[in-house]
Amino acid sequence: MTLSEFLASLDALAAEAPARIEAAADLDAWTEVRNALVGRQSGRLTDLLANLIQLPKEDRREGGIRANTVKVAIEEALEARRLALAAAAATGGPALDPTMPARERWRGAVHPVSLVIDEVVEIFRELGFTIALGPEAEHAWYNFGALNFPPDHPAMDLHDTLYVGDEQVLRTHTSPVQVRTLQQYPPPVRVLAPGNVYRSDPFDPSHAPMFSQIEGLVVDEGVSFADLKATLSHFARRFFGPTTKTRFRPSYFPFTEPSAEMDVQCGVCRGAGCGVCKQSGWVEILGSGMVHPAVLEAAGLDSEKYTGWAFGMGPARTAISRHGIPDIRILYDSDVRFLDQFAR
Ligand code: DAH
Repeated sequence: MTLSEFLASLDALAAEAPARIEAAADLDAWTEVRNALVGRQSGRLTDLLANLIQLPKEDRREGGIRANTVKVAIEEALEARRLALAAAAATGGPALDPTMPARERWRGAVHPVSLVIDEVVEIFRELGFTIALGPEAEHAWYNFGALNFPPDHPAMDLHDTLYVGDEQVLRTHTSPVQVRTLQQYPPPVRVLAPGNVYRSDPFDPSHAPMFSQIEGLVVDEGVSFADLKATLSHFARRFFGPTTKTRFRPSYFPFTEPSAEMDVQCGVCRGAGCGVCKQSGWVEILGSGMVHPAVLEAAGLDSEKYTGWAFGMGPARTAISRHGIPDIRILYDSDVRFLDQFAR
């Protein structure tokens, strides 16, 4: 064998080896390819190297060097392929590709009702309100009696209220926090009380057996209905936008006198009338009124000296009219496809 014949055989082997190595689809196939190329018994390179001794003496050195270069290249390619196959076997998928774009991380979203609560709290915080909390399992006296509900008021019926004991209820509103706060802190009082409330209502498109409310309470000397109107109108403009129109309608609650409900112009149709505002152009946002003297007295305050105003709103209702959500139950389904739309 001449040197050029030897080198030609080497080149042929170097040329075909990479494709054969890449073609090995699993570790068994890889072992076969390795044995065929560099196996000690019958590998192509091993056979070629055996021919080295037959070359003219002066050509053996070059032949050996060239053979070694091809050997190193084949062994490197074999090792790379073995690692890739091992990684694929370990992950059960194709080999790791570090050039693939990373998967985007899901950061979660703040629930649309929590968004409303956070914004309302922030607006009143700017006005000097602090947060007050009360128990969800509440004494019936705080939930009804102290709030001037007459003893035979229908709200106290088993039909509407969930009792957890003879005189213990799941609070049906956040208003009992008014009395608890006034018992604990002397005026001036300016508090906001967000929290969950419970009613014995079936789950339907506009009712939920549990929902959140935000209560507001201001008590001091010389507080008037003008303060109520100014503060709540300011809130509506901060929350719904500076051009928002509001209106107050006379209403009735046992714990306020006089009482009023505040409507804002419907944000979906801008007052023209639509499904969200039931064609009226207005959406009811909250109940409010001057704190009834009997409530101040129940909390141990002198109702000749102090006056106050209060309001209660439902953030779920506000979220619904803000986004035109057709069914309140969607808010409680925990479907991330819905909740994800409110990511901020
Ligand atoms: N507690 C009332 C309810 O659940 C809401 C409410 C109305 C609260 C007027 C108030 C108020 O503080 O002044 O329907």
